[in-house]
Formats: sequence, structure tokens, C-alpha cells
Amino acid sequence: MIEEKIFLKTDIEKTMDNYDFLGLKNTLKMSPENIVKKITESGLRGRGGAGFPTGKKWQFALAQESDIKFLICNADEGEPGTFKDRFLLENMPFKVLEGIIIAAYAVKANFGYIYIRGEYAKAIEVFEKTIKDAYHRGLLGKKILGSNFDFELRLVKGAGAYVCGDETSLINSIEGKRGQSRIKPPYPVQKGLFGKPTVVNNVETLSTVAEIMKYEDNVYAKMGTENSKGTKLVSINGDVKLPDVYEIEFGSMTIKDIIELAGGPKDEINFVVPGGLATSILKYDELEVLYTYEDLENNGSSVGSGGMIVVSKKHDLIELLLNVSDFFVKETCGTCFPCREGNRNIKEILLKMKRKGYNDEYKKIIGDLRESIMLAARCGFGQSSVNFIYSIIDKYFYEEVK
Ligand code: NAI
Repeated sequence: MIEEKIFLKTDIEKTMDNYDFLGLKNTLKMSPENIVKKITESGLRGRGGAGFPTGKKWQFALAQESDIKFLICNADEGEPGTFKDRFLLENMPFKVLEGIIIAAYAVKANFGYIYIRGEYAKAIEVFEKTIKDAYHRGLLGKKILGSNFDFELRLVKGAGAYVCGDETSLINSIEGKRGQSRIKPPYPVQKGLFGKPTVVNNVETLSTVAEIMKYEDNVYAKMGTENSKGTKLVSINGDVKLPDVYEIEFGSMTIKDIIELAGGPKDEINFVVPGGLATSILKYDELEVLYTYEDLENNGSSVGSGGMIVVSKKHDLIELLLNVSDFFVKETCGTCFPCREGNRNIKEILLKMKRKGYNDEYKKIIGDLRESIMLAARCGFGQSSVNFIYSIIDKYFYEEVK
């Protein structure tokens, strides 16, 4: 009882008093089909990194006939340089919660999980309190806000494996199995958690859903460009003066502008990683590219997770490559031979390059290994593990090391 009283006096409770949950209230007045339609028309694409259309994923899930469906919020944000989900979980947990409930209602899921990265101690603490308080307020449980919709939400803490950010490894982890990927298809919307249709959405995607549902008009669809609607959270870091999370309207700024927004570079820029280590770099003379999915893709890179790392000329390239390679060698789940052995081999070659200097043969081997891993790895981890390394070797090494 005493504990209950203390809990009710926390900041979480006070902030929740002032949050209107308007997006959820609007949602509960609409049919799931119309919500899916609205999200489809908004043009929202998944903000975890792959950019898959959210409305399409929900359409697939809604069409599944099943006694049980699940909604999972993927908060296992492990992509190096990415901390926008942490920002949302710590500072706007109600918006994330609201997005989760809306998504569950839209695809007719009555059970959900939020899987938060184990290292995010503060986010876990905040969200545990948020869930507890939401039950008190009738936002979770039976007949949410007096509607006929029931939804139960549980929090699961990750145990430190980067690969669990991959949705299929995450599902295995919730089931109590080892965090290893599954072969897709079947996609989780067809056969996910405990073999049931499961929607896995990223934290930022779900908060955006809450924002979209606040307005009767589809304001989100009017922002951005034809193929990149709305806004994106960018966690900019590395050699910039004001590293932080910034919200950028797609198509309104170049990469260079975003760096200026973050206080400008600390030192002369060598390259920028636009969307986490799964994305290829942009060289110092390629930074005029507009921040949209299409412009970045046309320049051989990607929006990815929005973790933008600015790297100045003072860093040793081979040491950076070894550091990144070491990360992928340690974090591969080891299920796919090409990912496990390919990444190990790449590290060996990089060590040779450090000892003996660069030659074109090394570049060819790394290029071949990259192709094999991309074609044969089961999950996004392997498929994108060599992008950063190969793009640096491709764009720099004949110039700087040979
Ligand atoms: P993916 O392209 O395989 O799938 C994206 C989403 O769309 C998944 O939810 C998938 O189930 C769904 N999907 C795709 N095709 C479908 C279909 N035909 N039917 C139904 N659903 C379908 O990409 P993946 O492997 O989920 O993610 C890879 C990305 O994750 C990388 O590009 C990387 O940027 C990012 N990433 C992000 C991290 C983070 O911390 N935010 C960490 C590591 C990687």
C-alpha cells in the first residue's frame, strides 16, 4: 500500500495526467480496417532500419485468421550510433505506449510485448512504471477506455545480444529460446511468436503512428517527399559539436545541413555513416545529398536506423575497420555459416592489411565475401554486416593506404 502511494506520486503519473491519448481515443472510434487504411495512406515506413511500409505490414496481419495475434514493440535498439528509441522511451513513454495500443487494435492483437534492450536501464524503469500506471487508468487490460477492446502488455528485458534486434531472433528470445534468427518467409505476420501471426514494429514507428492518429486529416502524408513521407528522428553523434536527437522532415535538408544543425563538425570531416553501421558511408564530398530514402539509396546508402555518425580525418581508418569488424565477429549469432565465417575471414584480411599494407586482392576477397554473406545470410544482421567496411575500402583504400 505504501509502495503504491509512493508510485502514484512519481513524475510518470503526473506526466500521464497531462497526456491526452487523443490518437488512441480517435482510434477506438474507428474500425481496424480504416486505421490500417489511414496508416497506409500516410506513407509511413518502418523506422527500425529496413523502411518496410507499415500499412502494408498491418494489412497482411489484419488479413490473417487466427485465435491469437501478437503485437511486439521492438525496443532492442543496438545499432551503433543509434539512440532515438532510447530518447522516446525515456522522454515520451506514453506516446510509445499509445502507438502500441493503436497498432494492436488495428491488427486485432490482444496480447503484446515490448522488448527493451537490457542495457537501457532507465528506459526499462520508466516503461515498467508506465505499464503499471496504464493498467490503473484503464489504458491496458479489459475494455480499454470503455471500448470492447482488450489488450495485455508485458515488458521483456533483452540480455545483451545485438542480433536480438532482428525480429525473428527477438521472437525466439521471448519464447525463451536462444537468440538466433529464423528463415523468412514465413514472415512474423504469418507465423511469429508461438507460431501465431505477429506484428513487430519499431519504437519510433509506433510513436509516429500515435502522432498520425491524433489528426483527422492525414497531415503526415503531406510532409516529406513522394517516397519519403513525414519526418525522421536522427541521432547524430561522433565528431559534431551538439550530438543529440533531431527530428528532420524528409527532403528538407541535406546531410551537410543536418551536421550544421548539430552544431557543425568538430574537425574536418572524412566521412559520414548516415544510418547506423548497417549502412554504407558517404564521403566528405558526397554530403550534399538530400535526406530522403530515395536520395540516399541513389547514392549507394540508406536512411537505415537514423544513427548518423560523423567521422573526422583524425581517425585511423584501419583501426576503425578493425573495431567495426570485431563487433560483427562477436555479435553474429553463428547460425548462418556465411555470416559467421565470412565476418571472421574479413577480420583476418583486415589484420593482414594492417600488417602488410593494402593490395587490390584484399579488396576483391572482401567484395566476394560481402556478396556471399548478402545472398546467403538469413537475417538483416548478416546481409548488412559488410556495408560499412566495404564502402570504406571501396572509396578510400587505394588512395590512402596503397
Ligand atoms: P526486412 O527487409 O527483412 O524486413 C523488414 C520488415 O518488413 C520486417 O518486419 C519483415 O517481417 C517485414 N516484411 C518484409 N517483407 C515482407 C512480406 N513480404 N510480407 C510480410 N512482411 C514482410 O529487414 P529486417 O531484417 O527486419 O531489418 C533489417 C534492417 O534492420 C537493416 O536494414 C538495419 O538498418 C536495421 N537494423 C536496425 C537496428 C536498430 O537497432 N534499430 C539494429 C540492426 C539492424
